[in-house]
Amino acid sequence: PATTNMSGNISPGPFSPPFHFKGVNFVPLADRRAVEQVESFQVRDDDVFVSAYQKSGTTWVQQIVSLLSTEGDLSEVSKIPIVVRVPWLETMDMSGSGQPYPQLLKDAPSPRLMKTHMPYHMLPQQAREGKGKIIYCARNVKDVVVSWHKMREGLAHIPSGTFDENFQEFINPEQAVYGLWWDVVSEYWRHKDDDNMLFVKFEDLKRDLRGNVVKIANFLSETLSDQRIDEVTANCTFSAMKNNEATNLTRAEAFKDLATKEFEFIRKGKVGDWKNSLSPEQSKILDDIHRTKMAGVDLTFEFE
Ligand code: A3P
Repeated sequence: PATTNMSGNISPGPFSPPFHFKGVNFVPLADRRAVEQVESFQVRDDDVFVSAYQKSGTTWVQQIVSLLSTEGDLSEVSKIPIVVRVPWLETMDMSGSGQPYPQLLKDAPSPRLMKTHMPYHMLPQQAREGKGKIIYCARNVKDVVVSWHKMREGLAHIPSGTFDENFQEFINPEQAVYGLWWDVVSEYWRHKDDDNMLFVKFEDLKRDLRGNVVKIANFLSETLSDQRIDEVTANCTFSAMKNNEATNLTRAEAFKDLATKEFEFIRKGKVGDWKNSLSPEQSKILDDIHRTKMAGVDLTFEFE
């Protein structure tokens, strides 16, 4: 299958400093050259873009689309790093060619599966015009801010402050990485009925993983037997992905110097874990922003 043609070796970094592009803040994981090339990226009809605000289930949906589009033994395919199977569009090639992904992917075989955190208006223009397919995954903002802090704390190459500093940055339109959660999610939501867009929620995946695997398969026009759907589902449960170093990348050799010993990329995977981290004041600040920003947006999240 196309997704296994690439090398499984990854060497993340070196990372550039944080930068701005067209009013959006990027962290060192992204690369300026790659970001600049995204808008004019030539899209194919069978391209799939997995998009999400950071810490919203991006890797989860990457794993699902990767497994759905692959033939052969899924547990074998699962061993190829997710960043190779579904590369992150606005970064540098992690297998060491020194090229930005938009450039490198020009010659990649179809179907090309890609991940991005870019806001909707910064996606490849042709994707916004209806070419290829976009799957957007949204997660409630309270769990996102906690998960984002935990990752910053645990990974060496993203600058991190204290929880309160990271929280303040998250709610500051001038500072929030990739833009404010509310602006980014509601912009994607406005496009939820576009023909080439499927909008899913992390909380729904938690409630009914298999049902959402089927929904994503239908959207991608993948016809799979019930047994195959069961196998895909089994390979993207929380425990399967946590115990797989190709998805739980902090367990992989290439990442071992980048993460603290305690931090795992596939961390807790819970809905409502924010209750263990947010103070009542922080929770109220988010409620207030949410009420204002999401007024008139018929997208709801239970803050369980
Ligand atoms: P937590 O930090 O709350 O555990 P992203 O891939 O967008 O960075 O999102 C990462 C979040 O998704 C992490 O949340 C991670 O644990 C969670 N996640 C990844 N795979 C998952 C799965 N199969 N089931 C539940 N949560 C998952």
